[in-house]
Amino acid sequence: MNIPIKNICCIGAGYVGGPTMTMMASKCPDLIFHVVDINKKRIESWNNKDLSKLPIFEPGLEELIAKTRNKNLFFSTNIKEAIESSEIIFISVNTPTKNKGLGAGKLSDLKYVEACAREVARYSKGYTIVVEKSTLPVRTAEVIKNILNSSESNSKREEISFDVLSNPEFLAEGTAIKDLDSPDRVLIGGDNKKAMIALSDIYKAWVPEEKILFTNIWSSELAKLTSNAFLAQRISSINSISAICEVTGADVREVSRAIGKDTRIGSKFLDSGPGFGGSCFKKDILNLVYLAEYFDLHDVASFWEGVVNINNWHQRRIAEIVIRKLFGTITGKKIIVLGFAFKANTNDTRESAAIRICQDLIEEGADLIIHDPKVSPDQIEKDLKIKQISETNTNPDSLLKSQIGQWKFSKNIDIFDDAHAILVLTEWEEYKHIEWQKASKKMVKPSWVFDSRSIVNAEEVIKSGLKLWRLGDGSKTKK
Ligand code: NAD
Ligand code: UGA
Repeated sequence: MNIPIKNICCIGAGYVGGPTMTMMASKCPDLIFHVVDINKKRIESWNNKDLSKLPIFEPGLEELIAKTRNKNLFFSTNIKEAIESSEIIFISVNTPTKNKGLGAGKLSDLKYVEACAREVARYSKGYTIVVEKSTLPVRTAEVIKNILNSSESNSKREEISFDVLSNPEFLAEGTAIKDLDSPDRVLIGGDNKKAMIALSDIYKAWVPEEKILFTNIWSSELAKLTSNAFLAQRISSINSISAICEVTGADVREVSRAIGKDTRIGSKFLDSGPGFGGSCFKKDILNLVYLAEYFDLHDVASFWEGVVNINNWHQRRIAEIVIRKLFGTITGKKIIVLGFAFKANTNDTRESAAIRICQDLIEEGADLIIHDPKVSPDQIEKDLKIKQISETNTNPDSLLKSQIGQWKFSKNIDIFDDAHAILVLTEWEEYKHIEWQKASKKMVKPSWVFDSRSIVNAEEVIKSGLKLWRLGDGSKTKK
């Protein structure tokens, strides 16, 4: 007999929980979705009438929210009520890397996941399917099962029982709605076929059955970490090749195109850039490294750690190139930074390459003007851990005297006056359409454009009299 499902709860209203439940609600109008979070401000933003004020920016999200919110999709802080009424509970909370204690710097901190499991144990009624949506270290399901089954309150309530499934999310930010609408696969790991079918029935409303994969729970957990590790590994691979291109006269775009034609390699995820960012690649690889070390697989651990090491090296390399090209000193020089988000079409800055690169440039004394169409100056301040220069402290003498540089946010992109360089760090569409002749006239001479995303119109930049450095472009940089 099928397990009847009517109410679904998702704990965690973040980049995954919010869009995923919105998509499910839009595809399953007969089911009710409750998205809950301890962060009151975040929930208020999800409920904001002004859809441009949702807590996250994702193309296509506003339209789906308009269709579903307060119909069969509800955002609230009432965790107890949502758990009590739901037959399926997704855990979609953050799983950051631990910064102290056992496994610090590598292992994910499971305190939020554990807190959720305890809440579920306390409030659930009857049989409940608990779904790991967060990305978790392998064998976390065991921890969740232990908490659910050993909770004191539960042992007193005989009618309570649980199944734990793993259903990792593969969406990428910036394309989340497209990815959720048409996923390459939906992965469901578990050991109770009935529970797995109940979960897959939700997806079957729009995902073709052959794309829904059933595995055991540990394979599902490990497949998620492996998937991110493979993707990140491709970026570190091509970024390492970009450095070779620059010294040999080769062009990394041509190399990518040539190798991508090999169907065994494939053409996706071969764009050299300023280094991968985002909240997950580094965290998930480090989890894999920890797992390998734990089982004494030290060569395996160092293989995967190399992917993160190359990424760190590559981000520092970009700041160093800027400094070297600007005659070895950038003290007091105005540098325009275009883009702070870790990729285009998101307001997320977690682990963005821009953080490390901007910090390095400021430390070397540069005066940065940072532009991003979706990231707020408050967020940049939190990330850089350096206060934005105030309007009252812009005396150029004081800037030159200070050892450390400073930064200022600009909403406007027309900010090229007296700049020594422009550094493109995020591939926002609008940066492709800059009028280089106009920009050049306003800049100090000689001045540079550093394009770490290969998006500017190279010919126009050069025609306008600016010097161009493109990541991985040995042919241009040798001139
Ligand atoms: P997030 O930080 O955007 O959101 C997590 C939310 O969980 C926060 O709003 C937080 O307040 C809430 N939360 C934490 N503890 C809670 C509790 N006890 N009760 C209720 N709410 C609680 O994180 P995210 O980016 O959505 O990522 C969530 C998980 O999904 C992570 O494990 C991540 O690795 C994984 N993931 C993320 C992405 C992505 O693109 N961001 C993609 C796939 C998988
Ligand atoms: C990534 C994965 O693509 C998702 O499948 C996964 O669900 C998610 O992580 C997660 O687990 O969090 P995301 O980090 O949102 O998604 O974005 P990506 O498109 O993967 O980009 C990650 C980083 O790699 C960005 O900084 C991006 O600019 C960079 N990148 C990507 C490149 O430098 N070159 C490329 O060719 C592709």
